[in-house]
Amino acid sequence: MRKPFVAGNWKMNTDGHGAVKLAEEVVAGCGETAGHKVDVAVCPPFVYLQQVGKALHSSHIALGAQDVYFEQKGAFTGEISAAMLKDTGCTYVICGHSERRHVIGETDELINKKVKAALAGGLLPILCVGELLEQRKANKTTDVVTRQMKEGLAGFSAEKVEAVTIAYEPVWAIGTGLTATPEQAQEVHALIRGLLTEMYGKKLSNEIRIQYGGSVKPDNAGELMGQEDIDGLLVGGASLKADDFAAIVKAAV
Ligand code: PGA
Repeated sequence: MRKPFVAGNWKMNTDGHGAVKLAEEVVAGCGETAGHKVDVAVCPPFVYLQQVGKALHSSHIALGAQDVYFEQKGAFTGEISAAMLKDTGCTYVICGHSERRHVIGETDELINKKVKAALAGGLLPILCVGELLEQRKANKTTDVVTRQMKEGLAGFSAEKVEAVTIAYEPVWAIGTGLTATPEQAQEVHALIRGLLTEMYGKKLSNEIRIQYGGSVKPDNAGELMGQEDIDGLLVGGASLKADDFAAIVKAAV
């Protein structure tokens, strides 16, 4: 049995005061549920990690970052290492989010290095994959997701990959209010599970959690979670409202 895992990606939102307030409200709303039947994490902007970490301290809600750089230290102005994230109390880190792929221009090769660095630094990576609308329309979803999975996980042994969570986020569903239907999502989740079986064997592929992301809301979370290969949710917009996020966490149990 895979334990459900819900993570909130706050993206470039909140300010110092608002981040702490939101974290406190999330603890009040789903602190009791988190950790027992469902793993829960929030991923605030880098600069608020420590403050949010403090606000989460008494709960089982984990702290995650939205990105990491692959080098350990040195002259990489503006970048943040895995060790720094670990130092601020992070457990998880999102790698290869579609906004980093398509707005910032990250490649599969770079994302692979980031996942590697995260694991080497003792963080649990959430590797995001997903197709653009034009790729779906051109029936390229399988090709795109297969490439992102194979290149994103290139060079990983089974032992390493165990610590990775995959997040399938169709880009056309992110922040658009358009959610993939549970059937559309399940189809790609099953593809991802199949790829993991091919790459690492059945036992491991059965253990790896695959989150769905893209306009997840309290009213669609339960139905998405009802799908066989959907093991959790990566929530953007709705994670900025503590009540909505708590409702999503509860729907995931
Ligand atoms: P959304 O974002 O829930 O606002 O669509 C999801 C994500 O980008 O992780």
